This record gives sequence, structure tokens and C-alpha cells, in this order.
Amino acid sequence: MGQKIRAAVFPVAGRGTRFLPATKASPKEMLPIVDKPLIQYAVEEAIDAGATKLVFVTGSSKRAIEDHFDTDPELEAALTESGKDQLLQSIRGIVPDGVTCIYIRQGEPLGLGHAVLCARPAVGDEPFYVHLADDLIASKTPCLTQMADEYSRHGGSVIAVEAVPHEETSSYGIVAVDGDDSNRVTEIVEKPSPDVAPSNMAVVGRYLLAPAIFDKLETTGRGAGGEIQLTDAIADLLAESPVYAYSFSGDRYDCGNKLGYLKATVAYGLDHPETGAAFREHLYEVLGQ
Ligand code: G1P
Repeated sequence: MGQKIRAAVFPVAGRGTRFLPATKASPKEMLPIVDKPLIQYAVEEAIDAGATKLVFVTGSSKRAIEDHFDTDPELEAALTESGKDQLLQSIRGIVPDGVTCIYIRQGEPLGLGHAVLCARPAVGDEPFYVHLADDLIASKTPCLTQMADEYSRHGGSVIAVEAVPHEETSSYGIVAVDGDDSNRVTEIVEKPSPDVAPSNMAVVGRYLLAPAIFDKLETTGRGAGGEIQLTDAIADLLAESPVYAYSFSGDRYDCGNKLGYLKATVAYGLDHPETGAAFREHLYEVLGQ
């Protein structure tokens, strides 16, 4: 059940003010976790899940993202000449053959829903992924691949969720589900305060959406924060098209804030073949254990 997902949308227009001054002139999505920028982890995850059309919804000061996914003949020649094969391989093939990058400008900062709507001409009338690079998920099977498997079981939209402390509901989209019907979403609200939140199940930055969402986004007015919210369009979709909440397996790091970013750096640094052992030793030393 369910067709193959070919397009992945990466909303990358946000300015990353929580990371200033680091993000003054360079995109927050280019912040590295060990040796790869966040957006490369995002792209690798989407490609693993079968995406062949990568749609970046960008804004001003985001050109580094385009450069990152472009070839760099000068650098490749220099690395070839100096025999640095491993480094050469690390920059070649970031975007494999058969995968296309499309860049669309989000002219106005009108929110996540608006960003997704900007991708409509590139996505067309097909189900598609939305990936928020800030949410880095370490897992054996990449999160979008898990969601594609879930989608193949029922053919409905899938949104990734995770339980959060109740007092944090106002930082997320929050869902209520029908426990009797394989976690079908019955309600979704953007950033409710804890006293009105329908649960503590928070939406994290992975979505697999039916193309019907685009018509909903066309008519979704401004919601929380005065922005056009993807959450509100999903709420409109619920009545006519099934949406399922999916509790993924893996560890999520919110790299949109400093502490989450540092935690991700530690986790990936410990796991990295080049740095893992020495970094572990260093951490023991620093922590005096
Ligand atoms: C966005 C969504 C929110 C979701 C979150 C996940 O919020 O609007 O529903 O829970 O991403 O990271 P943002 O973090 O952009 O404020």
C-alpha cells in the first residue's frame, strides 16, 4: 500500500536566532556535528528513505547550503593531487547520481506551513517527506525510512512523535491519538500551553504527507506566532485523510538550541570512528571519573 516517496522538502529559510552570533552570516543548518553539517545528515536520511528529489526552501544568507551540495572541481583536483583519497571521497557523492537538488526561495518569513507550500511546484501531486534539520535523530534505521515502512502498511500520512515533559508542550505541535486505531491522529495543536494540551506527545521534525496538505495550506490562515503553521493544515486534513502518529525508535537531539546541539556533538563524537576512543577518554578526564 502507498506509493513510493520521491520528494523530500527541507525548510531551511529560518535565521537561527537562537544561535547568534554563530548564525549571523552562515546558515544554522551548516553547523557541524563532528564533521558533517546538520543539513547533510538530513539529506542522507532522506536519500536512505528513497528520496530522489531534494527540495530546499531557502532564504537570504543560505547560499552555503547550495555550495555544499554542489561539486567543487578545484577542491577535488587539489585533494586528488595531494593523494587525500579519503577526504576526496567524503566530498564526492554527497549527492549521488540520480538525485536532484531544487532550491526555492521563501520570499517572506511566514512560517513552516508557508515554507512547505512554497515547495508545491517542485513536489507536485505526490506524497512527500518534510525534514527539519534541527531535529537530529540517531537511530539504526533512519527515522524517515521507519516512517516510509509505516506508510507502506496503511498509505496514510505519518508524523513522527515523541513523549515530552508535560511542561514543554508549548514548544511543539501536540497530538491526541485514537489508541484503538493504530495511533490515528484525532487532534493536533500547535504549541498549546500545558493546561490545554491534549497530551504530551510532541511532533518532531519528520513528516510524510499526502499531497492534499497543499490545498489545506493554501487556505490556512496565520496561527501561533502569527505564522502559517503546518500543524494547522494537518488539523484541517484530519477530517478527510488519515494521519498517523509514529513513535520512532532512536535518540532525538534538538540542535536548534545550544544544549541539544552540545548533546548531539557528544553522542556523535563518541560514536565516530576517528574521535570516539580518544574523546571518551577525554570526557572521563574532564569529569574526573
Ligand atoms: C516546528 C513545528 C512544531 C514541531 C517542531 C518540531 O516548530 O511548528 O509543530 O513540534 O517544529 O521540531 P519549531 O521548532 O520550528 O518552532
